Amino acid sequence: ELDRELAELIQNNLREIPDFPEPGVLFRDITPLLANGPAFAKLIDGLAEKYRGKVDAIAGLESRGFILAAPLAIALGVGMLTIRKAGKLPGPVLGVDYELEYGSARMEIRPDSVKEGDRVLIIDDVLATGGTAAAAIELVEASGAEVEGICVLMELLALKGRDKLPGREVAALLSF
Ligand code: PRP
Ligand code: MG
Repeated sequence: ELDRELAELIQNNLREIPDFPEPGVLFRDITPLLANGPAFAKLIDGLAEKYRGKVDAIAGLESRGFILAAPLAIALGVGMLTIRKAGKLPGPVLGVDYELEYGSARMEIRPDSVKEGDRVLIIDDVLATGGTAAAAIELVEASGAEVEGICVLMELLALKGRDKLPGREVAALLSF
């Protein structure tokens, strides 16, 4: 019910751009959703309803995950932690390298940004190959916290990101 409403909200406020950033790729842009004040508020309210009482912190994945994590943390009255791209956080940090389709990437966390046993929700805009989300899980757990789940607005099913997240609670509001 709520999930269905949120799926429609996202679908109705997406912009689809063919051949971006490369030929053959259909880019789904969430900036129209963010620019629609009432829709953005509804999205955050809905996510808060879904996770209220279940989590102690929200982890946002740089960059687009930050946009969702911050308002959700406030709505839930919990803290937000930032899982950042390489070299952005001052030390000491924990880092995880992972493979991209071409090349590799690295995400980092400040390990004292969570408390032992905290239930952390990881949030991002898109689950594609799952590499970013898998790295985030590793970092949260290496910091001593627990991953309550992973929430994304959109999942690109063809890329099989869930295969990299076995046994995890993955909530995707919309799937393509
Ligand atoms: C995009 C997207 C997800 C990630 C998903 O981030 O926002 O974070 O890729 O891909 P994956 O499942 O294959 O790991 P990207 O780093 O491209 O850019 P951003 O800084 O705009 O979030
Ligand atoms: Mg991203």
